[in-house]
Amino acid sequence: MGVEVERHGSVAVVTVDQPEKLNALNTERLDGLYTAFRALDTDAEVRCVILTGGGDRAFIAGADISQMAMMTSDGALAFARLGHAVATKIESLRQPVIAAVNGFALGGGCELALACDIRLASEKAVFAQPEVGLGIPPGWGGTQRLPRLVGSGLAADLIFSGRRIDAVEALRIGLVNAVFPADELMERTMAVARQIAANGPAAVQASKRLIGMALAANPSTGLATEARLFADGFGTDEQREGMAAFLEKRKPSFALD
Ligand code: COA
Repeated sequence: MGVEVERHGSVAVVTVDQPEKLNALNTERLDGLYTAFRALDTDAEVRCVILTGGGDRAFIAGADISQMAMMTSDGALAFARLGHAVATKIESLRQPVIAAVNGFALGGGCELALACDIRLASEKAVFAQPEVGLGIPPGWGGTQRLPRLVGSGLAADLIFSGRRIDAVEALRIGLVNAVFPADELMERTMAVARQIAANGPAAVQASKRLIGMALAANPSTGLATEARLFADGFGTDEQREGMAAFLEKRKPSFALD
């Protein structure tokens, strides 16, 4: 189906793997991504997920244009909804998701990267929302998530022009968190994932929910929920171990039973 899931301890790596098509996403591969993320969501042994592209040229070069070219408006609505379902599943996954952007992240590829919590890029990464050049607006969340991340002015520039930007510009505008040499990207991404995975899993997951609320909810709702989830952490094994380890000057162990 062109979507592979590998486990490295408590880190899962999801790879869209059709390099000869630059990992462009048709319905089958979108379904594969949805199924993969749905399974990871309920997997208590997974504490962090990495999304990347197979081969060395592309993260995801967008929605499959050969499939879209044949679509009716009704078919396109279903395709947009499936893209939204995948992006929302990534965004709302209990565990953090890191995009390891190893090449082209165009259109739907950029949009799925935007749904991830953290974006790390190779020096070879290229980003764009080129849809208007195909005569359509972005359809998998780009118009909503890009302005939130980089501001509405820059989002308008990128979406209206469709222009490509390199990793350096993506870093400058806050579209990615960091840029690494291409041959170090996976190793550096794995190091970030392992650092996340070593922390208290319930605390990390609560933090992810709360960061989501910072953008979605009004601040008072977010602050009220923050206080509640902060309090909920107290009295748990995770909190006892984390604080005891600090006081005993040792590293905490949040290992699975
Ligand atoms: N949908 C369908 N097929 C795609 C694709 C996409 N989004 N992106 C790349 N491919 C396919 C190409 O058709 C080609 O297939 P082929 O070998 O059977 O002809 C293969 O992937 C390799 O791409 P190619 O265009 O030959 O590589 P390139 O190095 O010349 O150009 C890109 C690379 C990424 C600049 C170019 O493929 C491109 O512009 N892709 C479309 C990007 C886009 O508009 N995405 C947004 C869609 S909403």
